[in-house]
Amino acid sequence: MQTNCRWHYLETAEDVAKAACRQILDAAESAISERGKFKLVLAGGSTPEKVYRLLAESDADWANWHIYYGDERCLPVDHQDRNSLMASRVLLDKVAIPANQIYTMPAELGPEVAADRYKLAVSKAGTFDMVLLGMGEDGHTASLFPGHQHQQDELVHAVYNSPKPPPERVSISANALSNTRELIFLITGANKQEAVNLWRSGSDLPVASITPENPIDIYIDSDAFKP
Ligand code: 6PG
Repeated sequence: MQTNCRWHYLETAEDVAKAACRQILDAAESAISERGKFKLVLAGGSTPEKVYRLLAESDADWANWHIYYGDERCLPVDHQDRNSLMASRVLLDKVAIPANQIYTMPAELGPEVAADRYKLAVSKAGTFDMVLLGMGEDGHTASLFPGHQHQQDELVHAVYNSPKPPPERVSISANALSNTRELIFLITGANKQEAVNLWRSGSDLPVASITPENPIDIYIDSDAFKP
């Protein structure tokens, strides 16, 4: 496990969402004050939904937020399983972030084309201000799965044969996800217990490949881990 993890043990998934939302808003205020913009990478899956709903109810300098995605499923843009669809419905359609500051992964074009296109956005972004990530039951994060081989110097990967449907995805690479000032993992639910324990005992899981210079904040509920 990374040596610079700050574990925040919360009781419920709602507590996790509230605490993470607070850190995100604080990070945004600092980034905009210091650099004029807040470059945030959204996590996919279902766990972040509670956080996005709380953000949508918050007051923030949305005009200076820039939104990226850590990964996306290769599905039509309006498919219910798209990470971008959930984020739009719950957050992005409800706040005044300029549309040209929301960098959606063109995953509907397929893994290769989408990865090739999106690496330009990631390259232009440079160091992110905050990256949000979830973790799967097998210790995957974004669409970086156990046993998958990728070119380490890539900014964005084309993903095939994902064990979590759909099989084809696009994912920002571990190196590029690690190029961030702050990074939050959001982990809730009893189905994550085994992967959390493996991670904490030093297993070489994809979550362990995320190694930003600054400390990682892990917000976890009591179903996923009991200290
Ligand atoms: C995806 C996600 C993926 C997700 C984990 C956890 O597109 O599937 O990026 O990495 O974060 O699988 O998913 P849940 O939050 O739904 O448990």
